[in-house]
Amino acid sequence: MKTYLVTGGAGFIGSNFIHYILKKYGDSIRVVNLDALTYAGNLSNLEDVSGRDNYEFIKADIRDAEAVREIFKTHDVDVVVHFAAESHVDRSIRTPEVFVETNVLGTCVMLNAAREAWEKEDGGFKEGKKFLHVSTDEVYGSLSDPGEYFYETTPYAPHSPYSASKASSDFLVKAYVDTYHFPANITNCSNNYGPYQFPEKLIPLMINNALKGRDLPVYGDGKNVRDWLYVEDHCKGIDMVIEKGRIGETYNIGGHNEKENIEIVRIILDTIQELLTQGDDRREMAQKSRIKFIEDRKGHDRRYAIAPDKISSELGWKPETMFAEGIKKTIAWYLDNEEWMERVTSGDYQNYYDRMYGAE
Ligand code: NAD
Ligand code: DAU
Repeated sequence: MKTYLVTGGAGFIGSNFIHYILKKYGDSIRVVNLDALTYAGNLSNLEDVSGRDNYEFIKADIRDAEAVREIFKTHDVDVVVHFAAESHVDRSIRTPEVFVETNVLGTCVMLNAAREAWEKEDGGFKEGKKFLHVSTDEVYGSLSDPGEYFYETTPYAPHSPYSASKASSDFLVKAYVDTYHFPANITNCSNNYGPYQFPEKLIPLMINNALKGRDLPVYGDGKNVRDWLYVEDHCKGIDMVIEKGRIGETYNIGGHNEKENIEIVRIILDTIQELLTQGDDRREMAQKSRIKFIEDRKGHDRRYAIAPDKISSELGWKPETMFAEGIKKTIAWYLDNEEWMERVTSGDYQNYYDRMYGAE
């Protein structure tokens, strides 16, 4: 039975990934979710799987080498899927050091623990082990020419403290591959959207503010471009790289869905009008007049765009959810889960661990 150690499994993509693999592989796999439950970790994202025999949650910090080593001692881990990170660019501009500690040092702790557990006496590695490092397209910097794309060969040029910390962690993984022949892959993905995303990120923030009749803060001129991918398509790509990716390789994941931020906000408002019936207060409040252009993000990257040619041709990956469908599904999810949003915005979700597992 294959054991997956998923770090950051209580976060947005991590919890979607756990749902994805438990649905796909059922009881034939075991999942251990290692998460420190920072502000971004929300165990209620996994309420529906928490009672399963083949799922276990461990509250631990990836910076804590002893705790991580202990997990490798007590579990025969086959695959590490390393999501845990500080993930929000705006926060990294305020407190860069936390990003270095978690994203760089934390990744180093994870790599050391996996290496120690998987290395054989002859210096080789046990069969079937893999470390999948989940990274971002932001490490490649910013594009200006509309015909330009990020390829796996594009030189790294990070600008924000977040992307600089992710780039450093990618280089550490590459160094372990080159130095120890450590069995790893890196995936660099574009902007994700979908259920369970924390409302500090553009799409859930705009949905929540629109439904509450609040201002919709657009940075700068609103013309920065992001390449949006439905989170389940990202999860599918990660699973394919775990199963079929060549050891030591990097795979870019993105669905050729570039949009200006202002277009995203307008689509969200139009979709809310479409999904809610006339007379619904939330529909009346979600108006374009609420769009406010505000001071730009410092060092704001202009455009990201992924070329997913390698993962498509080598592994057969392609996105399944087109944006028009994905954004409808996402808004419908937030409409159906208003209580989730209430608990997140009130901070109540942070008491979930105590309620479920008892206070420490
Ligand atoms: P998120 O912020 O929603 O979740 C991060 C998770 O990591 C949380 O559950 C948090 O509690 C946990 N965590 C943070 N610090 C930790 C620590 N020191 N020890 C243990 N757990 C810790 O992030 P996300 O958006 O789900 O992103 C997941 C990963 O994917 C990140 O590595 C991010 O860089 C990468 N990524 C994200 C996107 C995106 O659009 N969100 C795109 C490409 C890549
Ligand atoms: O590209 C992948 C990256 O996408 C991931 O690595 C990061 O973890 C993830 O947070 C995301 O980074 P961005 O900075 O692109 O995402 P964010 O949702 O913060 O912002 C998207 C765009 O919207 C960006 O150009 C800034 C803008 N924005 C954002 C917010 C929160 C606004 O105009 N207003 C806002 O209130």
